[in-house]
Amino acid sequence: MSPDDLKKLAAARALELVRPGMRLGLGTGSTAKHFVDLLGARVAEGLEVLCVATSEATQAQAESLNIPMSTLDATPELDLTVDGADEVDPVLRLIKGGGAALLREKIVAAASKRMVVIADDSKLVAELGRFPLPIEVVPFGIEATRRAVAAAITACGAAGELSLRKRPDGSTLLTDGGHYILDARLGCIAKPELLAKALNAVPGVVEHGLFLGLASCAILASGDGLKVLGTIE
Ligand code: A5P
Repeated sequence: MSPDDLKKLAAARALELVRPGMRLGLGTGSTAKHFVDLLGARVAEGLEVLCVATSEATQAQAESLNIPMSTLDATPELDLTVDGADEVDPVLRLIKGGGAALLREKIVAAASKRMVVIADDSKLVAELGRFPLPIEVVPFGIEATRRAVAAAITACGAAGELSLRKRPDGSTLLTDGGHYILDARLGCIAKPELLAKALNAVPGVVEHGLFLGLASCAILASGDGLKVLGTIE
């Protein structure tokens, strides 16, 4: 099976968790895109759900499939969010934000009773940090914020290069919220909770891609089938 087939397999298993009348958070990225496609097909068959998107891209995809959409202002409590991840560790700590949607993804996940992660099993790691950690920052004072972020990382016993995320055309990437992203290449994050707390304390940091205590389940697809971490129902 191709990596894309594996993503679709995980998405299809997550779709089985959806019940009529549920309020759903829709994730962002190539794996979440499969889930939204499959959900759209069920909606076309008559399934009634109400959804909130974690990005403009997912919003556009869902609208194109005629999935009923809401906002967190109108629907502030969700039953289930299904989203991808860049890394998952054995105790369901995540790195997210490779697709630059981490801020809305975290807000939506936090507003949900349950967050289920879908991924191919290449995302499962013993320790977080090989994937660069995305840190969303406000453009104002970026150099001062970058230095403060670097100091916070050092104080947590980690180290690595920080780079401002660019678009393919070389311009600075702007998130849906109009912010920049600093990617921290740390190699390994020995103390994710400590680092999360330190980053949250830096003025100018809007959010970071460490998702701790948010996911209750991860559905990981491999050539051998599905592996589930946590509680699926
Ligand atoms: C979006 O900002 C990310 O958090 C994605 O959920 C994550 O990068 C996983 O994306 P893929 O499913 O495309 O690997």
